Amino acid sequence: MIRAVLNTTHNTDENIVYLVENAEKFNNIVSEKKISFKSLSNKLKDKEDAHFVNDLSNQIFYGVLNEDLEKCRRLGSKAQKSFSGENLNISIKFDGNEEKVLAFLEGFLMSTYDFRKYFSEEKKSKIGQLTLISDLDAKKLEETQNTVEAALWTREMVNEPVSYLNAPKLAKEIEALFSNTSAKVEVFEKAKIESLKMGGLLAVNKGSIDPPTFTIIEYKPASPINSKPIVLVGKGVVYDTGGLSLKPTPNSMDLMKSDMGGAAMMCGTTAAVVKNNLPLHIITLIPATDNRPGGNAYAPGDVIKMYNGKTVEVLNTDAEGRMILADALSYGDKFEPMLVIDAATLTGAAIRAIGTYASCIMGNADEKYFDLLEESGKETFERTVKLPFWEEYGEEMKSKIADLKNIGGPYAGMISAGKFLEHFTTSPYIHIDIAGPSFTQSPKNYESYGGTGYGVRLLYNFLKKVANGKA
Ligand code: BES
Ligand code: ZN
Ligand code: ZN
Repeated sequence: MIRAVLNTTHNTDENIVYLVENAEKFNNIVSEKKISFKSLSNKLKDKEDAHFVNDLSNQIFYGVLNEDLEKCRRLGSKAQKSFSGENLNISIKFDGNEEKVLAFLEGFLMSTYDFRKYFSEEKKSKIGQLTLISDLDAKKLEETQNTVEAALWTREMVNEPVSYLNAPKLAKEIEALFSNTSAKVEVFEKAKIESLKMGGLLAVNKGSIDPPTFTIIEYKPASPINSKPIVLVGKGVVYDTGGLSLKPTPNSMDLMKSDMGGAAMMCGTTAAVVKNNLPLHIITLIPATDNRPGGNAYAPGDVIKMYNGKTVEVLNTDAEGRMILADALSYGDKFEPMLVIDAATLTGAAIRAIGTYASCIMGNADEKYFDLLEESGKETFERTVKLPFWEEYGEEMKSKIADLKNIGGPYAGMISAGKFLEHFTTSPYIHIDIAGPSFTQSPKNYESYGGTGYGVRLLYNFLKKVANGKA
């Protein structure tokens, strides 16, 4: 990712972004020679928030920052898209509130990303250097850029097909993400997973020719504010065919390389926490495998003994996410977490219920955590919708021959899935179903086609609130 640097002066021949909070204020930062203030403020008075001039020798973007930070992000994206050429030096000059400028930069940087790796022709970078003409706090700038970079890593992982990103490769990518940081990464390979008797992860892996992995990231800063860790768990299904219960609808497999979106979100979030040195003890657990029909694939009717000893009757091998998450959640118990959060592209039901605009959140953790999470969702525009978590939804998961079965009834499948998972942790629990927002085929604003990076900015914002004692 291109990173902006701070400077106090700029070269007047460069390409420039001028930002103000009120169109009348352009006279504070723009020289009258460039454009008449009157024409500029007239152009920007009512609905429009930006004006772009490309006079060949230089390109200038005039933007008006809004009270609403999401509008600032979108303005950033609009600016990024306005410039054309290669290797441009762009300066951003602003008169206004830092938070708004950082949001602008967030949108700008997010929209520099697209997944180009598999084009035969290399694409030249549009931006050579990005300079922020300001005496802005360098730490705040770093924080924004580290967080965006983490979200873009998440997008990249989601976009990688399984031909590249199998479970062992995902573990390697996670190791690379945390190399040169103070976090420790440990990868359990198949033999270790077998000796631990992680029955859910091993069952889903049975149809695969690639081994499963179980990756643990631990970040323990010098003086964390939490005496018991926060455990994050992400679904790492690197490809979901449905297994023997092969996905039935035409094209429903096309996007299933993205079924490790929860894993990518949790690793991205952890990277943002580590790189920004939040004073929180965090342990992130990533169970990973693909889910395929193979000669030895697990089958509907099988009864699986899970890591915590509970038994599960498999009635649909396509409900595999919960099988691998369950083992990771109960492995997490040994850390006696203050809070456990998982993220997963878990159910089509979540998409049918609220579409792609938000994640479904639910759980048994204290209400104050849900309130904070919803607040973070609004602030980052990575929105969440809290669903009920009543006992009745869990009744459906009872089996006639085992402790549990892995599918529920025809309605509210995203909640019965959450209730299933609740059996596998004894700590305060939040489940985030990101099946809707983690991937887009019609990118808007600062999104790009494919992985959205959803959840990294959301959960980083949330964890920062926790680190600041807001919960
Ligand atoms: N990975 C899917 C859920 C999914 C569907 C994510 C569409 C993103 C887009 C998950 O493993 C799955 O197949 N869930 C089943 C569960 C059912 C068999 C109980 C579903 O939602 O249909
Ligand atoms: Zn599935
Ligand atoms: Zn899945």
